[in-house]
Amino acid sequence: MRTYLITGANRGIGLAITEQLLARGDKVVATARQPAEAQALAKLAASASGRLVVVELDVASPASIATLPAQLAKADITALDVLINNAGMIGPKRQSTLDMDFDGFAETLAVNTLAPLRVAQVALPLLKAAKGSKILTITSRMGSLSHMTSDRIAYRTSKAAVNKVMQGLSTDLAPEGIVVAVAHPGWVKTDMGGQAAAIEPAESARGLIAVVDGMTSGDVCTFYDYSGQIIPW
Ligand SMILES: NC(=O)c1ccc[n+]([C@@H]2O[C@H](COP(=O)([O-])OP(=O)(O)OC[C@H]3O[C@@H](n4cnc5c(N)ncnc54)[C@H](OP(=O)(O)O)[C@@H]3O)[C@@H](O)[C@H]2O)c1
Repeated sequence: MRTYLITGANRGIGLAITEQLLARGDKVVATARQPAEAQALAKLAASASGRLVVVELDVASPASIATLPAQLAKADITALDVLINNAGMIGPKRQSTLDMDFDGFAETLAVNTLAPLRVAQVALPLLKAAKGSKILTITSRMGSLSHMTSDRIAYRTSKAAVNKVMQGLSTDLAPEGIVVAVAHPGWVKTDMGGQAAAIEPAESARGLIAVVDGMTSGDVCTFYDYSGQIIPW
């Protein structure tokens, strides 16, 4: 049994990953902004025999992130095998280069780019306490610099930037034996992806779990597709 911390696990892809990890016997620390409202997680917890711990986390708030170690200690979590930075937002309505909601752009960067690093930093002592631990950050193909499209530029920028941050983190954590990667989850039928999207959350989750399973200490930071294929930076 391995222990996973997954941010934004109350719905969408994070919830689907949580469901599948519990089903195969792993332990999950699922974060939600409002645990009391996280009914799907409460339902899963009822049959998880103590293997699901729900903690409160608003990744846009450094103060909230700072409470994570104490919340984990209270739940007797002393080591983490895997951190999955999944929480994310699409960004403001107006996000073209010629008509930008700059406050919304800054919020998008805070949630999609800065928060995964902040969460990784506070989780680091627990990741170091496990052997061969891993960090996977859910990014998007929309952040690939080889895409020349300009729509949703705040979102694209935040994902391109988190890719660079994670590549740097990967280099810095390699001596600790901690492997770091980023993955595009596919175009997924969630609130963010919409119902016209290509795949169900369960299919994305299956692929992402296989990506994490395949990550090995010593790997260079890689930008994966949920199917395991490599995406150009
Ligand atoms: N769906 C797609 O097609 C697609 C494609 C490429 C990449 N992605 C990426 O995949 C990840 C998951 O997306 P999804 O499709 O599952 O989206 P979703 O259904 O909209 O769910 C987003 C999750 O992130 C959480 N979240 C947002 N802001 C947060 C904050 N400030 N603090 C804590 N949690 C926060 C949400 O919590 P609340 O319920 O509290 O809002 C929710 O749990 C994101 O990083 C997204 O960028 C998705």
